[in-house]
Amino acid sequence: MASRGTFIILITVMFAAKSAQSFVKVDCEETNVGQHGHQSMLKCVVQPTQDQASDFEIQAIIWTKVEMEKPLLVYDNTDLKTMLQRYRLAEEPQNKKHNVSLLITDTKAADDGEYTCTVVTDVGDNTQTTRLTVRAIYSEPTIKLSNVKKTPNTDKSLICKSEGGFPKGELRWFDEHEVDWTKSATFEAKKMENGLFQLISSLPLLPLSTFNSYTCVVFNSSGIEVHKTTIQLEQVSPEPGTGTRDDLILPSKVVAPVVVIGSLIVGLLLLLVFLRRRSQPGHGHAVPSNDNDVEEGDSAMES
Ligand SMILES: *[C@@H]1O[C@H](CO)[C@@H](O)[C@H](O)[C@H]1NC(C)=O
Ligand SMILES: *[C@@H]1O[C@H](CO)[C@@H](O)[C@H](O)[C@H]1NC(C)=O
Repeated sequence: MASRGTFIILITVMFAAKSAQSFVKVDCEETNVGQHGHQSMLKCVVQPTQDQASDFEIQAIIWTKVEMEKPLLVYDNTDLKTMLQRYRLAEEPQNKKHNVSLLITDTKAADDGEYTCTVVTDVGDNTQTTRLTVRAIYSEPTIKLSNVKKTPNTDKSLICKSEGGFPKGELRWFDEHEVDWTKSATFEAKKMENGLFQLISSLPLLPLSTFNSYTCVVFNSSGIEVHKTTIQLEQVSPEPGTGTRDDLILPSKVVAPVVVIGSLIVGLLLLLVFLRRRSQPGHGHAVPSNDNDVEEGDSAMES
């Protein structure tokens, strides 16, 4: 109850003081960068706007996140409190440094965004906004060859995945000649439960225009290459003993049966034609009555 009462008083003070002249201003870093899972700091200090006002006293500090209703932290010099877990002040406000920076422990993707810091002093008050940019590094991409048909003309596609990054990044495909195939691929950035992104790109392989190797490159949100993985299509073979790659259709294994069956069919057809001609001598006589022999019949036709 006490803290809620304090908070209402503070809000009243804030709005009442808005129009009054203030001799302090809050100076914040425009952007602060935080790593997912680590501690982040939103850096702000209170500065006097005039020399004679340098000996002011901080009476209250209110930190809010712009899209959130409740403040993250409310400090008041008699009765600190209304604090959410994970948020605290970087320094004791009573000391003369007037450092009102906010510490966020165990930074999450959802912490990314705009914050405001309001400071009430005995010589006036001021509010500033500052930004936290959360970053998380994408994992090395993995590439799988899949036989799931996505489009009618393709029989296989390469699927590249990289996850655990923030903000949203991108995957691009290159063949061994550094030609960019990204436009042929379908890309998806999924938000995982923890707010980080999973990037998935599927590159269909057209039967007659497949290269020996493809490289999947992960770009972070600044467009900077962070990882890459290359798949050699001819060299892919199931890892001995794992037996977990049943979903893969390996090009060498696909081509081999096609060639073998193809040559068998051609061979059988040739054999059939040969046997028909050879084993039925009477047949040749029956059709053109003036011929005794196929070769004679041919030359007779020509002359
Ligand atoms: C405020 O205090 C924190 C913790 O001591 C420090 O890291 C930070 O640099 C200080 N900020 C400024 C602007 O002095
Ligand atoms: C992108 O990667 C570069 C190089 O590692 C890094 O300096 C930059 O901060 C990263 N950007 C983001 C948004 O993660």
